[in-house]
Amino acid sequence: MKAIAINEFGGEDTLQLMDLPLPKVKEGEILVKVKAAGVNPVDWKIREGYLKDLFAHEFPVIMGWDAAGVVEEVGNGVGRFKQGDEIFAYCRKPIVHGGAYAEYIALEEEHAATKPKNISFEEAASIPLAALTAYQSLFDAAKINPGETLLIHAAAGGVGGFGVQLAKDHGAVVWATASEGNKKYVKDLGASQVVDYTKEDFSEAVRSQYPDGVDVVFDCVGGEVLRKSAEIVKGGGRLVTIVDDPTDLPRSDIQKEFVFVAPNSGQLTELARMVEQGRLKTHLSQVFDFTVDEARKAHQLSESGHSRGKMVIVLP
Ligand SMILES: NC(=O)c1ccc[n+]([C@@H]2O[C@H](COP(=O)([O-])OP(=O)(O)OC[C@H]3O[C@@H](n4cnc5c(N)ncnc54)[C@H](OP(=O)(O)O)[C@@H]3O)[C@@H](O)[C@H]2O)c1
Repeated sequence: MKAIAINEFGGEDTLQLMDLPLPKVKEGEILVKVKAAGVNPVDWKIREGYLKDLFAHEFPVIMGWDAAGVVEEVGNGVGRFKQGDEIFAYCRKPIVHGGAYAEYIALEEEHAATKPKNISFEEAASIPLAALTAYQSLFDAAKINPGETLLIHAAAGGVGGFGVQLAKDHGAVVWATASEGNKKYVKDLGASQVVDYTKEDFSEAVRSQYPDGVDVVFDCVGGEVLRKSAEIVKGGGRLVTIVDDPTDLPRSDIQKEFVFVAPNSGQLTELARMVEQGRLKTHLSQVFDFTVDEARKAHQLSESGHSRGKMVIVLP
């Protein structure tokens, strides 16, 4: 089968179109004919080798942790899916090796859910990793409540965009950061206030409305943004980040938590239901063809840190 993979860590040039053996399904796994693969920042971070101390890698490494497609074969012990079922999945595995930028992927059935019926494979492939990250950050870590005040950083991005929608759907009051050109986009997602972080100091903007701070900050940027965010969380509030370790930040009166998204078919099924009910939407800013040049362009755009919504690669 054809796959876009790397044989060594490095820049975009390491991405190659390879002819690789069809993956074999193990117990509890399904073989999926991939229709579309989601593009996430973790893809270029893996390509660069930034996660090599966190996970074992086995070359060639096929890129991509988000897939949507059709079940081609089921392994022993698979109970939820059969051949021909349309699924989507966040398919992170303990060993980074077989990803979604490929004609076929073998993945654990526990990482997949039935694809929402009202959206395309392209749209479906853009959802799992980013939406699960937002879901686990807001509901498992921050445990947000209706009526609470939230600030979500990088709301125009993949995770932040789902975060705004999920928080608003849950009845929270959402403030968000984005640049001027993305203000309307983020307001349309459900934010009541969008701070242009390139012109305004977000902590001053928040303090002017909420002198005691907000109940929750969901940080998708890290670094200085995370550090400053700790100062605007109300005493007893929660600071959840998906980028940097917050434990050493100088606030002992708030909950500080780093979230690393885990595959979860139950939560993915819940997200699919929300999509079918029209409560959650994905916004595809770019759809790329399944070629090395296009994959390199997708990685460049992701690496710029300023793509809007989500990007996917479509298989022929
Ligand atoms: N721990 C985990 O499990 C996990 C899971 C998913 C992602 N992540 C990480 O979380 C980060 C975000 O992921 P993502 O998929 O949402 O990325 P993304 O889609 O590439 O995010 C791009 C967005 O970030 C915004 N942005 C950039 N700098 C900003 C700033 N200083 N303040 C506010 N917004 C800013 C940009 O908006 P403008 O163009 O308007 O500037 C752009 O729309 C990445 O570092 C990713 O690796 C971690």
